[in-house]
Amino acid sequence: MTIPLNPITANLPLFMGLDRKLIINVEDLDQVDYNQANVILNGEALEVLKKLPDSIIQTVVTSPPYYGQRDYCTQDQIGIEKTPNNYLNRLLEIFDQIKRILKEDGTLWLNIGDKYIDGSLAGLPWQLAIALKERNWILRSDIIWYKPNAMPSSVQNRPTTDHEYLFLFAKNPKYYYDADAIREPHVTFSDNSKMRGGRNHLGKKGGTPEQGKNAGNSNLHNGRWDQAFHPKGRNKRTVWEVPLSKFREAHFAVFPEKLIEPCIKAGAPEGSLVLDPFFGAGTTGLVSLNLGRKFIGIELNKQYCEIAVKRIFSI
Ligand SMILES: C[S@@+](CC[C@H](N)C(=O)[O-])C[C@H]1O[C@@H](n2cnc3c(N)ncnc32)[C@H](O)[C@@H]1O
Repeated sequence: MTIPLNPITANLPLFMGLDRKLIINVEDLDQVDYNQANVILNGEALEVLKKLPDSIIQTVVTSPPYYGQRDYCTQDQIGIEKTPNNYLNRLLEIFDQIKRILKEDGTLWLNIGDKYIDGSLAGLPWQLAIALKERNWILRSDIIWYKPNAMPSSVQNRPTTDHEYLFLFAKNPKYYYDADAIREPHVTFSDNSKMRGGRNHLGKKGGTPEQGKNAGNSNLHNGRWDQAFHPKGRNKRTVWEVPLSKFREAHFAVFPEKLIEPCIKAGAPEGSLVLDPFFGAGTTGLVSLNLGRKFIGIELNKQYCEIAVKRIFSI
Protein backbone atom coordinates (compact mmCIF):
# COMPACT_ATOMS: atom_id res chain seq x y z
CA MET A 1 0.00 0.00 0.00
CA THR A 2 1.35 3.49 -0.80
CA ILE A 3 0.99 6.16 1.83
CA PRO A 4 -0.47 9.49 0.63
CA LEU A 5 2.13 12.22 1.08
CA ASN A 6 1.25 15.60 2.53
CA PRO A 7 2.86 18.77 1.13
CA ILE A 8 5.63 18.91 3.72
CA THR A 9 6.70 15.30 3.86
CA ALA A 10 6.40 14.89 0.08
CA ASN A 11 9.13 17.43 -0.61
CA LEU A 12 11.57 16.48 2.08
CA PRO A 13 15.21 16.45 1.14
CA LEU A 14 16.99 13.23 2.01
CA PHE A 15 17.62 13.12 5.71
CA MET A 16 20.48 10.97 6.96
CA GLY A 17 20.32 9.09 3.71
CA LEU A 18 16.67 8.19 4.20
CA ASP A 19 13.91 9.14 1.80
CA ARG A 20 10.82 8.51 3.85
CA LYS A 21 7.76 9.99 5.53
CA LEU A 22 8.43 11.80 8.78
CA ILE A 23 4.80 12.16 9.88
CA ILE A 24 2.72 8.97 10.01
CA ASN A 25 -1.03 8.91 10.59
CA VAL A 26 -2.43 6.62 13.25
CA GLU A 27 -4.03 4.40 10.55
CA ASP A 28 -0.62 3.74 8.99
CA LEU A 29 1.27 2.70 12.10
CA ASP A 30 2.06 -0.70 10.64
CA GLN A 31 4.44 1.15 8.29
CA VAL A 32 6.71 2.36 11.10
CA ASP A 33 10.17 0.87 11.43
CA TYR A 34 10.86 1.27 15.15
CA ASN A 35 14.56 0.49 14.66
CA GLN A 36 14.88 3.41 12.30
CA ALA A 37 12.56 5.74 14.33
CA ASN A 38 12.99 9.56 14.03
CA VAL A 39 9.33 9.85 13.16
CA ILE A 40 6.22 11.66 14.41
CA LEU A 41 3.03 9.65 14.90
CA ASN A 42 0.04 11.91 14.32
CA GLY A 43 -2.79 10.80 16.58
CA GLU A 44 -4.25 10.71 20.08
CA ALA A 45 -1.61 9.59 22.59
CA LEU A 46 -3.55 6.71 24.19
CA GLU A 47 -4.83 5.39 20.88
CA VAL A 48 -1.35 5.45 19.32
CA LEU A 49 0.43 4.03 22.38
CA LYS A 50 -1.91 1.03 22.48
CA LYS A 51 -0.67 0.08 19.02
CA LEU A 52 3.06 0.26 19.78
CA PRO A 53 5.06 -2.90 20.59
CA ASP A 54 6.22 -3.77 24.14
CA SER A 55 9.62 -2.74 25.52
CA ILE A 56 10.96 -0.60 22.66
CA ILE A 57 11.66 2.72 24.40
CA GLN A 58 14.66 3.54 26.62
CA THR A 59 13.43 6.79 28.10
CA VAL A 60 10.37 9.04 27.87
CA VAL A 61 10.74 12.81 28.20
CA THR A 62 7.44 14.64 28.16
CA SER A 63 5.26 17.48 29.31
CA PRO A 64 1.52 16.78 28.99
CA PRO A 65 -0.87 19.70 28.61
CA TYR A 66 -1.48 21.27 32.01
CA TYR A 67 -5.02 21.19 33.40
CA GLY A 68 -7.27 24.04 32.25
CA GLN A 69 -4.40 26.05 30.78
CA ARG A 70 -4.53 26.10 26.97
CA ASP A 71 -6.59 25.17 23.95
CA TYR A 72 -4.56 23.01 21.58
CA CYS A 73 -7.36 23.27 19.02
CA THR A 74 -8.05 19.55 18.65
CA GLN A 75 -10.80 17.17 19.64
CA ASP A 76 -9.62 14.66 22.23
CA GLN A 77 -6.99 17.03 23.56
CA ILE A 78 -5.94 16.52 27.16
CA GLY A 79 -6.33 19.30 29.73
CA ILE A 80 -9.93 20.42 29.11
CA GLU A 81 -11.69 17.69 31.13
CA LYS A 82 -14.60 18.73 33.39
CA THR A 83 -12.75 17.80 36.58
CA PRO A 84 -9.10 17.44 37.61
CA ASN A 85 -9.83 13.79 38.42
CA ASN A 86 -10.93 13.08 34.86
CA TYR A 87 -7.74 14.74 33.68
CA LEU A 88 -5.56 12.68 36.01
CA ASN A 89 -7.33 9.44 35.04
CA ARG A 90 -6.68 10.05 31.36
CA LEU A 91 -3.01 10.65 32.07
CA LEU A 92 -2.80 7.51 34.21
CA GLU A 93 -4.13 5.38 31.36
CA ILE A 94 -1.51 6.90 29.07
CA PHE A 95 1.30 6.23 31.54
CA ASP A 96 0.16 2.59 31.94
CA GLN A 97 0.76 2.18 28.22
CA ILE A 98 4.06 4.02 28.47
CA LYS A 99 5.23 1.56 31.12
CA ARG A 100 4.39 -1.33 28.79
CA ILE A 101 6.39 0.05 25.88
CA LEU A 102 9.39 1.04 28.05
CA LYS A 103 12.35 -1.32 28.20
CA GLU A 104 12.74 -3.08 31.55
CA ASP A 105 15.56 -0.67 32.51
CA GLY A 106 13.70 2.35 31.11
CA THR A 107 12.78 5.66 32.75
CA LEU A 108 10.21 8.43 32.51
CA TRP A 109 11.03 12.14 32.93
CA LEU A 110 7.71 13.89 33.49
CA ASN A 111 7.31 17.67 33.61
CA ILE A 112 3.93 18.84 34.81
CA GLY A 113 2.53 22.15 36.01
CA ASP A 114 -0.01 22.93 38.70
CA LYS A 115 -3.21 24.95 38.71
CA TYR A 116 -5.05 27.25 41.12
CA ILE A 117 -8.67 26.12 41.36
CA ASP A 118 -11.00 28.45 43.32
CA GLY A 119 -7.96 30.23 44.70
CA SER A 120 -6.33 27.08 46.05
CA LEU A 121 -3.35 25.28 44.54
CA ALA A 122 -4.62 21.89 43.31
CA GLY A 123 -1.37 19.97 43.82
CA LEU A 124 -1.82 18.15 40.52
CA PRO A 125 1.87 17.27 39.98
CA TRP A 126 2.02 15.43 43.30
CA GLN A 127 -1.44 13.89 42.89
CA LEU A 128 -0.25 12.43 39.60
CA ALA A 129 3.11 11.34 41.04
CA ILE A 130 1.46 9.52 43.94
CA ALA A 131 -1.11 7.87 41.68
CA LEU A 132 1.74 6.68 39.43
CA LYS A 133 3.52 5.22 42.46
CA GLU A 134 0.32 3.36 43.31
CA ARG A 135 0.50 1.90 39.79
CA ASN A 136 3.99 0.55 40.55
CA TRP A 137 6.09 3.26 39.04
CA ILE A 138 9.17 3.95 41.18
CA LEU A 139 9.56 7.65 41.92
CA ARG A 140 13.31 8.35 41.96
CA SER A 141 13.51 12.14 41.99
CA ASP A 142 11.41 15.29 42.25
CA ILE A 143 13.52 17.79 40.37
CA ILE A 144 12.68 21.47 40.72
CA TRP A 145 12.93 23.35 37.46
CA TYR A 146 13.74 26.90 38.63
CA LYS A 147 12.91 29.48 35.95
CA PRO A 148 14.98 32.65 36.50
CA ASN A 149 12.98 34.48 33.80
CA ALA A 150 9.50 33.26 34.85
CA MET A 151 6.61 35.58 33.92
CA PRO A 152 6.05 38.24 36.59
CA SER A 153 2.56 38.12 38.10
CA SER A 154 0.36 40.66 39.82
CA VAL A 155 -0.38 38.51 42.91
CA GLN A 156 0.13 40.33 46.21
CA ASN A 157 -1.01 37.70 48.70
CA ARG A 158 1.41 34.85 47.92
CA PRO A 159 4.86 34.46 46.37
CA THR A 160 5.10 34.48 42.57
CA THR A 161 5.64 30.95 41.28
CA ASP A 162 8.91 30.45 39.42
CA HIS A 163 9.33 26.68 39.47
CA GLU A 164 7.82 23.49 38.10
CA TYR A 165 8.36 19.83 38.85
CA LEU A 166 10.25 17.36 36.71
CA PHE A 167 9.75 13.86 38.10
CA LEU A 168 12.08 10.97 37.35
CA PHE A 169 10.33 7.58 37.44
CA ALA A 170 11.77 4.12 36.82
CA LYS A 171 9.92 1.05 35.63
CA ASN A 172 12.08 -1.28 37.78
CA PRO A 173 14.51 -0.86 40.70
CA LYS A 174 17.50 -1.42 38.37
CA TYR A 175 17.42 1.06 35.53
CA TYR A 176 19.76 2.79 33.08
CA TYR A 177 21.10 6.06 34.49
CA ASP A 178 24.43 7.55 33.41
CA ALA A 179 25.31 9.82 36.34
CA ASP A 180 28.74 10.63 34.83
CA ALA A 181 27.11 12.11 31.72
CA ILE A 182 25.49 14.91 33.74
CA ARG A 183 27.88 15.69 36.58
CA GLU A 184 28.16 19.35 37.59
CA PRO A 185 31.13 21.40 38.86
CA HIS A 186 32.29 20.79 42.41
CA VAL A 187 31.56 23.61 44.82
CA THR A 188 33.30 22.79 48.10
CA PHE A 189 36.68 21.71 46.68
CA SER A 190 36.82 23.48 43.33
CA ASP A 191 40.08 24.67 41.71
CA ASN A 192 39.32 28.10 43.16
CA SER A 193 38.53 27.02 46.69
CA LYS A 194 40.90 27.98 49.48
CA MET A 195 40.66 24.54 51.12
CA ARG A 196 44.04 23.24 49.99
CA GLY A 197 43.67 19.93 51.81
CA GLY A 198 40.69 19.12 49.67
CA ARG A 199 41.82 20.71 46.46
CA ASN A 200 44.87 18.46 46.26
CA HIS A 201 42.60 15.46 45.88
CA LEU A 202 40.61 16.76 42.93
CA GLY A 203 40.61 14.04 40.29
CA LYS A 204 43.18 11.90 42.22
CA LYS A 205 41.78 8.85 43.92
CA GLY A 206 43.60 7.44 46.96
CA GLY A 207 45.83 9.31 49.40
CA THR A 208 43.03 11.14 51.13
CA PRO A 209 44.12 12.20 54.61
CA GLU A 210 42.70 9.44 56.79
CA GLN A 211 45.34 10.51 59.31
CA GLY A 212 47.20 13.72 60.06
CA LYS A 213 45.95 17.27 60.13
CA ASN A 214 42.69 16.53 58.31
CA ALA A 215 41.90 13.23 60.05
CA GLY A 216 38.29 13.16 61.07
CA ASN A 217 37.19 15.50 58.28
CA SER A 218 34.60 13.25 56.71
CA ASN A 219 34.57 15.37 53.54
CA LEU A 220 38.14 14.34 52.83
CA HIS A 221 37.86 10.58 53.38
CA ASN A 222 38.25 8.04 50.60
CA GLY A 223 34.66 6.90 51.03
CA ARG A 224 33.49 10.37 50.03
CA TRP A 225 36.00 10.89 47.22
CA ASP A 226 33.33 10.43 44.57
CA GLN A 227 31.22 13.20 46.05
CA ALA A 228 33.97 15.72 46.67
CA PHE A 229 36.74 15.09 44.11
CA HIS A 230 35.38 13.09 41.17
CA PRO A 231 37.24 14.38 38.07
CA LYS A 232 33.98 14.75 36.12
CA GLY A 233 32.38 16.82 38.87
CA ARG A 234 29.82 16.22 41.59
CA ASN A 235 26.63 14.23 41.15
CA LYS A 236 23.85 16.29 39.54
CA ARG A 237 21.60 18.05 42.08
CA THR A 238 17.81 18.30 42.12
CA VAL A 239 17.35 22.04 41.54
CA TRP A 240 17.95 22.89 37.87
CA GLU A 241 18.11 26.55 36.87
CA VAL A 242 16.99 26.81 33.24
CA PRO A 243 15.53 29.94 31.58
CA LEU A 244 12.33 29.58 29.55
CA SER A 245 12.75 28.90 25.85
CA LYS A 246 12.31 31.55 23.16
CA PHE A 247 10.94 29.38 20.30
CA ARG A 248 8.11 31.58 19.04
CA GLU A 249 6.54 29.60 16.22
CA ALA A 250 4.53 27.43 18.60
CA HIS A 251 1.77 29.16 20.56
CA PHE A 252 2.48 27.12 23.67
CA ALA A 253 5.37 26.59 26.05
CA VAL A 254 8.07 24.43 24.51
CA PHE A 255 10.75 22.69 26.52
CA PRO A 256 13.98 24.66 26.83
CA GLU A 257 16.62 22.42 25.24
CA LYS A 258 18.82 22.82 28.33
CA LEU A 259 16.08 21.40 30.55
CA ILE A 260 15.87 18.08 28.75
CA GLU A 261 19.50 17.59 27.72
CA PRO A 262 20.38 16.03 31.10
CA CYS A 263 17.32 13.75 30.95
CA ILE A 264 18.36 12.37 27.57
CA LYS A 265 22.08 12.13 28.39
CA ALA A 266 21.45 10.28 31.66
CA GLY A 267 18.37 8.34 30.58
CA ALA A 268 19.37 6.96 27.18
CA PRO A 269 22.70 5.69 25.81
CA GLU A 270 23.70 6.91 22.35
CA GLY A 271 21.71 5.22 19.60
CA SER A 272 18.78 4.33 21.86
CA LEU A 273 15.17 5.40 21.47
CA VAL A 274 13.53 8.37 23.24
CA LEU A 275 9.75 8.94 23.20
CA ASP A 276 7.69 12.08 23.76
CA PRO A 277 3.95 11.29 23.60
CA PHE A 278 3.03 15.02 23.76
CA PHE A 279 5.52 16.12 21.12
CA GLY A 280 4.31 19.69 20.43
CA ALA A 281 7.03 21.54 18.51
CA GLY A 282 9.34 18.55 18.88
CA THR A 283 12.03 19.72 21.31
CA THR A 284 12.55 16.15 22.55
CA GLY A 285 13.19 15.00 18.98
CA LEU A 286 15.55 17.88 18.24
CA VAL A 287 17.65 17.32 21.37
CA SER A 288 17.64 13.54 20.93
CA LEU A 289 19.07 13.83 17.42
CA ASN A 290 21.61 16.46 18.50
CA LEU A 291 22.81 14.05 21.18
CA GLY A 292 23.02 11.02 18.87
CA ARG A 293 19.83 9.33 20.13
CA LYS A 294 16.73 8.40 18.09
CA PHE A 295 13.20 9.64 18.77
CA ILE A 296 9.53 8.88 18.35
CA GLY A 297 7.02 11.69 18.87
CA ILE A 298 3.27 11.41 19.26
CA GLU A 299 1.20 14.53 18.60
CA LEU A 300 -2.52 15.05 18.10
CA ASN A 301 -2.41 18.34 16.20
CA LYS A 302 -1.24 17.90 12.58
CA GLN A 303 -0.06 21.51 12.35
CA TYR A 304 2.25 21.02 15.33
CA CYS A 305 3.64 17.87 13.69
CA GLU A 306 4.54 19.97 10.70
CA ILE A 307 6.12 22.73 12.82
CA ALA A 308 8.17 20.02 14.54
CA VAL A 309 9.34 18.45 11.28
CA LYS A 310 10.49 21.81 9.95
CA ARG A 311 12.27 22.62 13.19
CA ILE A 312 13.97 19.24 13.66
CA PHE A 313 15.02 18.63 10.08
CA SER A 314 15.66 22.33 9.24
CA ILE A 315 13.47 22.38 6.15
C1 LIG B 1 2.86 21.34 26.51
S1 LIG B 1 2.72 20.88 24.84
C2 LIG B 1 4.24 20.01 24.60
C3 LIG B 1 5.35 20.89 24.16
C4 LIG B 1 6.63 20.11 23.90
N1 LIG B 1 7.22 19.64 25.14
C5 LIG B 1 7.64 20.96 23.14
O1 LIG B 1 8.78 21.13 23.59
O2 LIG B 1 7.26 21.51 22.09
C6 LIG B 1 1.54 19.59 24.86
C7 LIG B 1 1.21 19.00 23.51
O3 LIG B 1 0.33 17.88 23.71
C8 LIG B 1 -0.56 17.82 22.59
N2 LIG B 1 -1.74 17.01 22.98
C9 LIG B 1 -2.83 17.38 23.70
N3 LIG B 1 -3.66 16.36 23.92
C10 LIG B 1 -3.09 15.28 23.28
C11 LIG B 1 -3.46 13.93 23.14
N4 LIG B 1 -4.59 13.47 23.69
N5 LIG B 1 -2.66 13.11 22.41
C12 LIG B 1 -1.50 13.58 21.86
N6 LIG B 1 -1.09 14.85 21.97
C13 LIG B 1 -1.87 15.70 22.69
C14 LIG B 1 -0.87 19.27 22.30
O4 LIG B 1 -1.35 19.43 20.96
C15 LIG B 1 0.49 19.93 22.55
O5 LIG B 1 1.22 20.03 21.37
